[in-house]
Amino acid sequence: MLDVGCGNGYHCWRMYGAGASTVIGIDPSPLFLCQFMAISHFTGSHHPVFLLPMKIEDLPDFSNTFDTVFSMGLLYHRRDPIGHLTRLKKLIRPGGELVLETIILNSSTSNVLVPSGRYAKMNNVWFIPSPSLLETWLKRTGFVNIRLIDITPTTRTEQRRTEWMEYESLNDFLDPSNPRLTVEGYPAPERAVFLAEKPS
Ligand SMILES: C[S@@+](CC[C@H](N)C(=O)[O-])C[C@H]1O[C@@H](n2cnc3c(N)ncnc32)[C@H](O)[C@@H]1O
Repeated sequence: MLDVGCGNGYHCWRMYGAGASTVIGIDPSPLFLCQFMAISHFTGSHHPVFLLPMKIEDLPDFSNTFDTVFSMGLLYHRRDPIGHLTRLKKLIRPGGELVLETIILNSSTSNVLVPSGRYAKMNNVWFIPSPSLLETWLKRTGFVNIRLIDITPTTRTEQRRTEWMEYESLNDFLDPSNPRLTVEGYPAPERAVFLAEKPS
């Protein structure tokens, strides 16, 4: 399995725990690599869970390799979301699966939000598609058997400040008088999970 934009590798360990035989995560952040190495130090090096400190653009040619490729929390950071989906598809083996988790615009039409500046204080959010538009992007990229399996608003109990995470969190990113909006007046984050397959 491959987890693109894996952060510190948390989900890689969960995939391994759920039965994956080998898991590779990629993420360009040196801090996340250090966190991953700290966890690996305590788990021991005999587990087939690896983190490569690189961007998806810089991966060597792993065409048609992975049973399952995950992209979670990354699509909305990409300036070229269809290019991102195309890269993900190339990495999956024929008949393999994509798990795509991203912020969506909860609208029944085929629509996209392009924030004019920051979104929930993030300055690197480019495209927030509605589920129907994201399905079209997946179809146009060549995926089949596309299924939307979940839409869940991100809550302040899930994404919150703790004694381990003392920086600003969701509560600081939402309009104090209307938590259905971000501080910039956009719809508050809701996240969708899509499954899709690469044709055999
Ligand atoms: C919002 S975090 C999501 C982390 C994790 N997937 C999760 O769901 O908790 C996005 C991650 O994507 C990574 N990232 C950003 N650009 C990337 C790229 N071009 N290729 C791979 N990862 C990237 C960032 O370093 C960051 O860790």
